[in-house]
Amino acid sequence: MAPTRFKFILSPPFSCDTMEEKFTINYDSNLDKILLVGEGDFSFALSLARKFGTAKDMVATSLDSIVDVHTMSVHQGLQWNYFNLIVFNYPHAGFTYRECDPQQIELHKKLVRAFFRSAKFMIKRSGLIHVTHKRGYPFSEWKIKELALLEGLIFIREE
Ligand SMILES: C[S@@+](CC[C@H](N)C(=O)[O-])C[C@H]1O[C@@H](n2cnc3c(N)ncnc32)[C@H](O)[C@@H]1O
Repeated sequence: MAPTRFKFILSPPFSCDTMEEKFTINYDSNLDKILLVGEGDFSFALSLARKFGTAKDMVATSLDSIVDVHTMSVHQGLQWNYFNLIVFNYPHAGFTYRECDPQQIELHKKLVRAFFRSAKFMIKRSGLIHVTHKRGYPFSEWKIKELALLEGLIFIREE
């Protein structure tokens, strides 16, 4: 059966104990600068830092920490910083309408496209942008790959 979520640009399947480990196992501690956006409780950031043994080159942000993906490229604390990897796990624009309502889907698409638009100004030339996302309906209607293309990004792979 197809996995229920996908992530752009990741390596082959693996098995491990916790969800955080699942997400972090493919990340490379040699990457010198990582930006995490839309973090919830920062558990992903914590897992990565534990795995790497440091959070020295990681910037972890949330909407609550006033880093909005629409404006992050001009955020005072981030401007003129360029990252090897920018990650948005499970973007979600909130619950204005029902999840399968076209208006709600449009809100999600606007959020993800804004993320891509901002991220492309913050990524190093050979950098990567990761989005983790649920695969099934109605999430499939977000058409994330198309949004990335519209922002001029090159799709590498999904897992
Ligand atoms: C489903 S939660 C995922 C949280 C976390 N990334 C995770 O994987 O557990 C969606 C996240 O998107 C964030 N978000 C929504 N709109 C945003 C925006 N405009 N800029 C940054 N983050 C946003 C929310 O604050 C929330 O943390």
